[in-house]
Amino acid sequence: MKKLLYTILLGLLISNSISAQDWIVPGAQKGKLANFEFSETNIESGSSIFLTNCRTCHGIPGEGNPMPLVPPPGDPADTKFQGNSDGELYYKIREGRGQMASFKKVMTISQVWDVISYLRSFNSDYIQRVAAPATDNRWTDLNIGLTLLSSEHQIRAEVSGMEDGNRTPVTGAEIRLMVKRKFGNLQLGEVIMTDLEGIALFSAPLDLPGDEEGNLSLIVQLNDEEKFGLVLSEAVLAAGMPFTPVSLTAERAMWNINKKAPIWLILTYCLGLLTAWGFIFYVMLQLKSIYKLGKEEENH
Ligand code: HEC
Repeated sequence: MKKLLYTILLGLLISNSISAQDWIVPGAQKGKLANFEFSETNIESGSSIFLTNCRTCHGIPGEGNPMPLVPPPGDPADTKFQGNSDGELYYKIREGRGQMASFKKVMTISQVWDVISYLRSFNSDYIQRVAAPATDNRWTDLNIGLTLLSSEHQIRAEVSGMEDGNRTPVTGAEIRLMVKRKFGNLQLGEVIMTDLEGIALFSAPLDLPGDEEGNLSLIVQLNDEEKFGLVLSEAVLAAGMPFTPVSLTAERAMWNINKKAPIWLILTYCLGLLTAWGFIFYVMLQLKSIYKLGKEEENH
C-alpha cells in the first residue's frame, strides 16, 4: 500500500516537473529558418528590442540575472536556451507561454528575427542556416496605399505591384494594420486578406486617442514576409479620437499656486483669519472697559 502511494507521488512529481520545463514546439515549426543572413544591423535592432521588451524578465544575456519566476525565464546566453533551434526560438517568442506574453501582435516578423540574431550573438558555436529563397516573386515594386474613408469610418489599404510591366492588384494577400505607440506597435483588429481589387478594409479605431485632430500614425504591412519580403507603408490619418491633453495646473485646484486655489479654500482661510483677529479685538475692547471701570471706582 505504502509503495503504491510513493509510486503515485513520484509519478506526480515527475509529470509536474516535465510539464513545467518542456515547452514542446510543433514539429513543422522547429525547422523554420530566417530567409536572410543575420547582419550587424539586425543584431543592433534586436538588441534595442530586447532591452525594451525582454530584459526585465530575462536579464542581461551572459550575466545570469533573469527574474526569479517559475518556470524560470532563463539566461539567453545559457546552453539550455541556445539549445533551441531558430524555429523553436521563433515559435516561443511569437506564441509565449504562461508569464511570458505572446509577442505576435507587438513585433513584426522581421523584428522577431532581429531579436533572434541578437540572442545568437551570445553563442560562439552558432552557425546560421538560411531558408531557401521564396518562390513567389512575380511582383516587383510592391506598394500599399492607405486612405481614410471618413464617412464609413474605415481605413482602406490597396496593395499593388508591377507584373509584366503593368501595375496590378495583389489579391489574397494577408495584410495587417498597426498603430505606432510609445512602446512599440499595436495591431488593430485581425489580419485581413485583400480582395480581387487588392483592397482590404479595416474599421477605424474611433475609441483610440490620437492628437487634437484624432490623427494616428498608422503602419500597414503584408503579413507573409517570406513570400513578399518586407512590404510596409506608413501614413498619418485622422482615424482616431480627437484628444487634447489638459494641463494639471490649468484649473483652480488644491495643488495649484495660491492665486489658483479653489474659491472655498480662499473663503475658509479669510473667514478663519477674520474670526481670529475679531476675537483679539473683542478681548482688547473688554480690557479697555475694565480699565475704565477701575478708573471710575478710584474717582469715587
Ligand atoms: C514577463 C516576463 C517575460 C518577458 C517580458 C519575456 N519573457 Fe521570455 N520567458 C519568460 C518565462 C517565465 C519563460 C519560461 C516559460 C515556460 O517555460 O513556460 C520564458 C521563456 C522564453 C524562451 C524559451 C527559453 C527556453 O529555454 O526554451 C524564449 C526563447 C524567450 N522566453 C524569449 C523572450 C524574448 C525574445 C522576449 C522579448 C521579446 C521575452 N522572452 C520576454 C518570461 C518573459
